[in-house]
Amino acid sequence: MVRDFHVSVMLSEAVDALHVEKGKKYIDATLGGGGHAIEIVKRGGIVLGIDVDLDAINYVEEKIKNQIANSKNATLVRGNFLQITEIARENGFEEVSGILFDLGVSSYQFDKAERGFSFQREGPLDMRMDQSLSVKAADLINGLTKAELTKLFDKYGEERFAKKIAGAIVKARLEQPIHKTTELSGIIERTTGIREKIHPATRVFQALRIAVNDEIHVLEDALGQSVRLLEDAGRIVVISFHSLEDRVVKRAFLEFEDQGLGSMVTRKPILPSEHELRENPRARSAKLRVFARTTNYE
Ligand SMILES: C[S@@+](CC[C@H](N)C(=O)[O-])C[C@H]1O[C@@H](n2cnc3c(N)ncnc32)[C@H](O)[C@@H]1O
Repeated sequence: MVRDFHVSVMLSEAVDALHVEKGKKYIDATLGGGGHAIEIVKRGGIVLGIDVDLDAINYVEEKIKNQIANSKNATLVRGNFLQITEIARENGFEEVSGILFDLGVSSYQFDKAERGFSFQREGPLDMRMDQSLSVKAADLINGLTKAELTKLFDKYGEERFAKKIAGAIVKARLEQPIHKTTELSGIIERTTGIREKIHPATRVFQALRIAVNDEIHVLEDALGQSVRLLEDAGRIVVISFHSLEDRVVKRAFLEFEDQGLGSMVTRKPILPSEHELRENPRARSAKLRVFARTTNYE
């Protein structure tokens, strides 16, 4: 068991934004280390926690037993939030007061070298959040053409040296297939040779993770389903960690407004406090947006 599975980002801001009421139902679509879900239960809510990663489910099950008396108020399900409607129905959460998405990977996943999310830890180029998926990052790195890699790094990483990096990868894999995270980050470092605030491999790793887990499409689809699971005045709260995700969230909320489904509560995203940024550097790119449902419109 890992002691510091994950430090929740914007814990009170996110749970405050859900307006938790005693006895009402909430879905935490990204359970992770359970920080947000447990806080919702502590405030009197009844929670359905979903995560694709079985390690997260097992960890939180144990934590709940030790930390909260009313553990029957939390139901934990392994699954992808792409199936949020089905999972909600199966568990009696078809009409809820709030849904939380805290996107991305947990620190546990990120820090575990064998999951392949970190370019600083030597591990296999895997990056699957759901370990039953068949395509790993290594399959993309060794299987896509130079043009496909360029497009991928450009689209999902917004990497300005996409073509140069793709070229270097294709050249390197002619010698031998690229299987390790550090092999890939080494190639990127040598190719760009740039010293920036963020590591030169950051954007390529982001792009691969998004592609392996189909993160953008899954998020778009899940938000569309979520708005229909909300009762009147119910809220969707999303914490995103990069501009592509934030754009999807903002666009979805504006579309819901156009369809008369409710209103975007946060015109500008809520950001972590200075204090949180000092305590938890992983919060630095977080943005929180809130949408409130209206069902009784004309
Ligand atoms: C940032 S962590 C959540 C942390 C959590 N809020 C906490 O306070 O500990 C994100 C979690 O979402 C899960 N996840 C990411 N995409 C998912 C998806 N499509 N369906 C279900 N879970 C997903 C990851 O496995 C990870 O455990």
